[in-house]
Amino acid sequence: MISGTTRDPPLAFDDVPFRAIAEQSLAGFYVVLDERFVYANDTFAAMFGYGRAEFIGRHIAGCVTPDSVDEVMHNYRRRISGEVQAIHYATKGVRKDGEIVHLDLHASRVECRGRPALAGVALDITERVQAQAALRRLAKHIDSAREVERARLAREVHDVLGGMLSSAKFDVSRIVRRTSAPGLEALHAIAGSLVELMQETIETARSISDELRPASLDPLGLGPALTQAVEHFGARHGLAVAVSGTGAPEGLPPATSMQIFRIVQEALTNVARHAQASKVELKLATREGALMLRLADNGRGMDAAPRRAGSIGLFSMAERARDIGATLKIGPGGTGGTELLLRLPLAAPAA
Ligand SMILES: Nc1ncnc2c1ncn2[C@@H]1O[C@H](COP(=O)(O)OP(=O)(O)OP(=O)(O)O)[C@@H](O)[C@H]1O
Ligand SMILES: [Mg+2]
Repeated sequence: MISGTTRDPPLAFDDVPFRAIAEQSLAGFYVVLDERFVYANDTFAAMFGYGRAEFIGRHIAGCVTPDSVDEVMHNYRRRISGEVQAIHYATKGVRKDGEIVHLDLHASRVECRGRPALAGVALDITERVQAQAALRRLAKHIDSAREVERARLAREVHDVLGGMLSSAKFDVSRIVRRTSAPGLEALHAIAGSLVELMQETIETARSISDELRPASLDPLGLGPALTQAVEHFGARHGLAVAVSGTGAPEGLPPATSMQIFRIVQEALTNVARHAQASKVELKLATREGALMLRLADNGRGMDAAPRRAGSIGLFSMAERARDIGATLKIGPGGTGGTELLLRLPLAAPAA
């Protein structure tokens, strides 16, 4: 019976057979001395596509992609010099066959042969990184497919539906004129209210079309189009709005303006759905060679709002920002509520 066996006391740390553990570990183990690997377990060498014997002795700079060398050497020196004890970071290694291996490294300063060295643990995160990249490509594809579809719908609603409604309104207006004779008052009143209804319907169709594909963006430019969107939003949801400095630089590519517009649209939707705010502020400025956009609400803040599983709004905003080379931060605002900060570096104007 298991419960009847004598139990050995726990091992003291020095008695743990670490060698066996290190050699069989599914994580990579390594030691770097004087910038070269002086120990690696089979798992670590295999991450680079080498046998252990041929891997040991390699210089660390020769094991990573050229664009990673500076960071790897910098991190190495910071620990060897004692500036920091340990660093955890991700980098890109180069395998024997030239393929890239994405590594998650955690290594700290140790003594080895009386000299400062690094002892580290590594995980191969290539699959995770590739899955993230694939997800990003998919998100981008869905977004551009959706953008095309929205543009098609917007045209359909604006041109076809809008056109039909206008002709109908024109005909009803004729009925109004022809029923002004005495005896036709009842018909005249009905036709009159029908004209009003048609007018409202035309305006609704226009605003649906505009939401699908902001027609304001091309003729007005980004700044005024955003101002208009924020003002409409405030009016629709009963929120105070403050808009300032909306002079966006000339010559932004249309696709860039559209991505920024969509980011703001998505953020406004979040304000309406989650913030319980009474005010939104939009500020647009060009400063130090960059377009700066700030959208802030005075609501309850992101941490207080209940999280919904499977939400993609923030993810898609981040992807749109990435797509146009902008940085995006969304978090607590200086005076409560939630704040969105977008910074888009602008290409220097041609001399
Ligand atoms: N302005 C805001 N004020 C308060 N909470 C917010 C605000 N913006 C976002 N949040 C919080 O962040 C969460 C994630 O936002 P996100 O836009 O990704 O998802 P969602 O709006 O819930 O769903 P969807 O995928 O339809 O956008 C929200 O569920 C909400 O809890
Ligand atoms: Mg959302």
